[in-house]
Amino acid sequence: MLKTNDLGYWYDRQENSLFEHVDLEFKSGTSYAIVGQSGSGKTTFLSLLAGLDKPRAGQIELNGQPINKIGLTNYRKSHVAIVFQSYNLFNYMSPLNNLLTAMAVTESSHKGDKAFAADMLRKLGLTDEQMKKNVQKLSGGQQQRVAIARTMCCDAKLVVADEPTGNLDEENTKFVIDQFQKIAHEQNKCVIIVTHESDVAKACDHSYRLAKHEFALES
Ligand SMILES: Nc1ncnc2c1ncn2[C@@H]1O[C@H](COP(=O)(O)OP(=O)(O)OP(=O)(O)O)[C@@H](O)[C@H]1O
Ligand SMILES: [Mg+2]
Repeated sequence: MLKTNDLGYWYDRQENSLFEHVDLEFKSGTSYAIVGQSGSGKTTFLSLLAGLDKPRAGQIELNGQPINKIGLTNYRKSHVAIVFQSYNLFNYMSPLNNLLTAMAVTESSHKGDKAFAADMLRKLGLTDEQMKKNVQKLSGGQQQRVAIARTMCCDAKLVVADEPTGNLDEENTKFVIDQFQKIAHEQNKCVIIVTHESDVAKACDHSYRLAKHEFALES
């Protein structure tokens, strides 16, 4: 579904590249972990896959079409759902309205379906009372779960997440990983998760390590 062709990125000079000549393939119905030392370039790599930044070398293809041909704005709107480390929810809205807004502005087969959105939030363990509160009144972990529910409401076949369990305890981490596995296996999406946690990486179908400017398959 998603392929990187000879992908390279550097911030200032090519001699200091984060990675170069990256040829990877990510399939739908599969979950992937990206691990690596702090500062190795994981978030940067994810931002290229999400169409938030342009590669310095090479290109990314979605189902055989270069994403710059699709147009990055269009690509982000129709094909990618992102879970940021800092959730990026609308703070002045309830979880329910966050989901309904995301469904309204992106591709979703459930536009306006409040019951569907509520069901997704319930699946992620939010109570009916919590889903109507302002999101600012929720804990970090609860907000993180709203951000994950949001990806489940939209049709985007690619879900990328940066440290989605960074703020969660062990029990919630297990739960969230389980949900990501369901998104991959039951919704037939391609899920790519950047993580520091080896338990999270092990739970994914495949794991890549970014080290010495290269991605190596670990499992
Ligand atoms: N806008 C920027 N301008 C210049 N250098 C940057 C910029 N953003 C990040 N970097 C540098 O690029 C490198 C990779 O950053 P990135 O955020 O991709 O790493 P990471 O692997 O996600 O790290 P962490 O695990 O700590 O989140 C770092 O050394 C960082 O200092
Ligand atoms: Mg990072």
